[in-house]
Amino acid sequence: MKLAEYSIDALEQLHGQVQAEYLRLRERTLSINMARGVPSSEQLDLSNALLELSLAGDYLAEDGTDCRNYMGQQGLPEARRLFAPLLGLPAEQTVVSGNSSLALMYDCLAFAMHNGFPESSMPWQQEPQTVAFLCPVPGYDRHFTLCESFGVRMIPVPLLDDGPDMDVVRRLVSEDSTIRGMWCVPKYSNPTGTVYSDEVIEALASMQTAALDFRLFWDDAYTLHHLTSDAIEISNIYQACVRHGHPDRALVFGSTSKMTFAGAGLALFGSSKANVEWWLSHASIRSVGPDKLNQLRHVRYLKDLDGLKSLMDGHRKLLAPRFSAVLHQLDSHLRPFGFASWSEPKGGYFISLNILPGTARHAVALARAVGVNLTSAGSCYPHGHDPLDQHLRIAPSSPGLSDLEAAAQAICTCVLLAACERLISK
Ligand SMILES: Cc1ncc(COP(=O)(O)O)c(C=O)c1O
Repeated sequence: MKLAEYSIDALEQLHGQVQAEYLRLRERTLSINMARGVPSSEQLDLSNALLELSLAGDYLAEDGTDCRNYMGQQGLPEARRLFAPLLGLPAEQTVVSGNSSLALMYDCLAFAMHNGFPESSMPWQQEPQTVAFLCPVPGYDRHFTLCESFGVRMIPVPLLDDGPDMDVVRRLVSEDSTIRGMWCVPKYSNPTGTVYSDEVIEALASMQTAALDFRLFWDDAYTLHHLTSDAIEISNIYQACVRHGHPDRALVFGSTSKMTFAGAGLALFGSSKANVEWWLSHASIRSVGPDKLNQLRHVRYLKDLDGLKSLMDGHRKLLAPRFSAVLHQLDSHLRPFGFASWSEPKGGYFISLNILPGTARHAVALARAVGVNLTSAGSCYPHGHDPLDQHLRIAPSSPGLSDLEAAAQAICTCVLLAACERLISK
């Protein structure tokens, strides 16, 4: 029977059972962290060859660059050639730099605030009205924190099954010239697993914007991170923007954080020639050049796109059972009550769980009290505010399988307990 159909007596009886289960959980000493999408140590082990790969005596890049030295701001040619297909841009319009794509996004926003883009009439921070970004929700919390730290106004936009609600997006960007950017995680979105449809990508590339220097911050973090044998491909945003006369619209980001080493991979950026020149001119003020030895190591280890895809297959084999374990628990323990819904992603790092409105914060606190650490409720919304207080983000990547099963069961108990308490108190 669905929870909504329970009489008050039946609800109280269920509450008693769930509370007893919760008390049993309290006696166990779980300590499981599912707060962030961190690769497991088995995943990291897949790239241990990188640690063994010695560059001693062989540290020259193909163009003769001495990788031990300064310079090479745009990245080694062979590294750009290897990773350009991930971004869907030519190697000449690809940058390989640093170890964190989030840092590259931060830099692009910082350069825009400080200097503006080539066609901006002034630096964004000098605009008389605060600049704004569209934020599909639920979305990636660090995008929102980044906006918050620069004082960028955030406008939530619903994320539908095929991408952001384009009726809302089109209307807002055409009417409001303070809207200068939009966050997009187009494939296996964090946290919903959403894949943008060709129609949505076409609409984002073609839409008319009131701001002349509007940018899509296209964070393709999960482009090769399939969880099934269906290796989904999406349309090329850069080419679509060019076709519609907006060649400078998309700033495309990616990284090898969840391919090789999360803390010691390579970050990727690609865009129009003008945007890459713009980036290089500002980046060269900030740094004398990236770590090219790590780029060389990555190229020699991965070799080519096939090498990268076979590594990603190794990740899939480790991740897919973890996702299945969590989905199985949700199915067994929550589905019968009919009040929760969740994503069944075909890739990426997260499961989105929508529970009874008004209970997400409480459920997260209940889980924390029994040793299961979840992402704070609300964090997938600007300023941490989920207006319905109903969304949870589950990150199944790092705990081992038996911990995951225990954690997922505990989450179901907490979600159900929070729901019973809410309904009884009404
Ligand atoms: C959508 C998205 N973008 C970027 C990142 C961080 O990437 P990086 O490690 O390259 O900074 C993450 C990490 O979880 C993510 O989910």
